[in-house]
Amino acid sequence: MTIGILKESPGENRVAMLPESVATLVKMNVNLLVESGAGLTSFASDKQYEEAGAKVQAKKDVISGADLLIRIQPPTEEEIALMKAGQVIMSVLNPYFNGDLIRELAKRNITAFSMDVVPRTTRAQAMDILSSMATVAGYKAVLTAANSLPKFFPMFMTAAGTIKPANILILGAGVAGLQAVATSRKLGGVVYVFDVRAAVKEEVVGLGGKFVEVEGAIDDKAAGGYAVEQTEEFKQRQAKAIHDQAVKSDVIICTAQIPGKRAPLLIKKDTVEAMMPGSVIIDLAASTGGNCEVTKETKPLLIRVLKLSETLSSRPICLPMPAVCLVKT
Ligand code: NAI
Repeated sequence: MTIGILKESPGENRVAMLPESVATLVKMNVNLLVESGAGLTSFASDKQYEEAGAKVQAKKDVISGADLLIRIQPPTEEEIALMKAGQVIMSVLNPYFNGDLIRELAKRNITAFSMDVVPRTTRAQAMDILSSMATVAGYKAVLTAANSLPKFFPMFMTAAGTIKPANILILGAGVAGLQAVATSRKLGGVVYVFDVRAAVKEEVVGLGGKFVEVEGAIDDKAAGGYAVEQTEEFKQRQAKAIHDQAVKSDVIICTAQIPGKRAPLLIKKDTVEAMMPGSVIIDLAASTGGNCEVTKETKPLLIRVLKLSETLSSRPICLPMPAVCLVKT
């Protein structure tokens, strides 16, 4: 069997396999082809891949020589055109939102595995890319926010007086949200959390966060641990509670998502207008529309520092999912 590792498009810094994993597979008699430069943005050179036992080739040779192709982002049109019937691709295809791509792959008789829809059962934990990437995103989101915030996170008591700790608001307490709670607490912030699933209250409190309850949430146990769409009445009650907390917050980390649907809109533009100057919002739900109304469509892996809706600068960072960073001015 021959596996081909494709180079990602600009904006995606990750690579589907690093040289250390190549070495493991080579020992199992698997042939590895790597597109030249595939690992550069992950600090892995062509030479390291060669030393691990892979062959470094041009894109078209990798595609024509591999039985199985691997990539983080979905394959480009150019790559799909080079693929042949019967080939297999493993990627993060986001099939609920990329129907045309899935239909095109099916039409061309290409077998596709979308790693983001592997069931999150105990047996499949080693393949759970959503949890591993959400852990990185939740952690990095807090560090990015702390770096962008013109204040300290922890409380400081000095002879000259006391500096209050930062207030952090976290929307959604799934994998990314809980990691954001833990990281914010380690940095000394005071953390408030909203989620529609009552089950997460215990985990939030266990990590040192304060769980803000809004009555009337639909918590569907049949949804496999995921959230479901809420009633209009609940959304209004929740919007008011979030607004009241948001205007007192220095940092908001948005992580709320509903599988297969647009992310719930939880922070309205007027809430952003009412927030304190210098406060920071990191919207990790940007790829599915964002939890914040001011979040704009953004390219994967680009974080934009916005003056409300106006772009100030654009720089790549290492969040593993599209994210938007808003700094209120
Ligand atoms: P997610 O990315 O789909 O959503 C993030 C969070 O946003 C969830 O906690 C959700 O309840 C919350 N949310 C959605 N709508 C909201 C709203 N309107 N207001 C406030 N919060 C809202 O979730 P993620 O991180 O993918 O994990 C969700 C669940 O997946 C876990 O609780 C767990 O049940 C399951 N899971 C299972 C694993 C396993 O190995 N068995 C591993 C990881 C997760």
